[in-house]
Amino acid sequence: MTDSGKITPEWVRCRKDVGQKIAALTAYDFPTARLLDEAGIPILLVGDSLAMVVLGYPDTASLRLEELLPHLAAVARAKPRALVVADLPSGTYRTPVEALATGKALKQAGAEAVKLEGGVAVSEAIRALVKARIPVMAHIGLLPQSAGGRFRKVGRQPEEKEEILADARAVEEAGAFSVVVEATEAGLTAEITRRLRIPTIGIGSGSECDGQILVFHDLVGLFPWFRPPFAEPKADLAEVIREAARLFLAETQGKASPAPKRILGSERSL
Ligand code: KIV
Repeated sequence: MTDSGKITPEWVRCRKDVGQKIAALTAYDFPTARLLDEAGIPILLVGDSLAMVVLGYPDTASLRLEELLPHLAAVARAKPRALVVADLPSGTYRTPVEALATGKALKQAGAEAVKLEGGVAVSEAIRALVKARIPVMAHIGLLPQSAGGRFRKVGRQPEEKEEILADARAVEEAGAFSVVVEATEAGLTAEITRRLRIPTIGIGSGSECDGQILVFHDLVGLFPWFRPPFAEPKADLAEVIREAARLFLAETQGKASPAPKRILGSERSL
């Protein structure tokens, strides 16, 4: 953290040493970034789940870099205290040179760190980014960009377990400051968390991680058509929106009394 309270990758890395759990959420627009920052969330990920929960694509692999950049810029415009991390979209880091070009484009649009999927296979790309002073959050376990829509728990079979452990070692050695561990068997995730010096940030991988990350829409119930089993919504914004729209419709058609003149708790008059 800097003197001004800005969260840095180094601050995130050190959470493991001080034993403070890390909470991270996705954000894709200015108001969400401001609200999550005001709530004290230290990491905002402009992730490729943008493709599914905002842009309506069937998978994350469909997202193009040009589609992600305006969302990243909107989050950066909120000037959050939180660290702004952005995903390298699928197909934009096939070589270290390509990863570097993508990383630079993300940095230019406001990313303070980047995330990419893979372990051993992307360790050279991670090295190239870190060398160019672009901090990297790694992502191992289930890799949605290459999973072909098959979302399943990984790390149960001995061979797969060894591969994931090798990926964990590889991303740490390549210089990542933290690693997302997705949909990985809980015992294996706990072992990775014990073995690595950098923090593990889990999603659907049990509780024995150094932190947890969630898609914002899953946290607040804003994508009710698909709910991952591990994400327990803390609100039902889908129903709040439907209800507000129903009220407006009824009011417009003269079937309901007008809405109150002021939104409770808000500065804005209606
Ligand atoms: O894009 C995304 O939502 C992710 C998850 C791991 C949070 O990468």
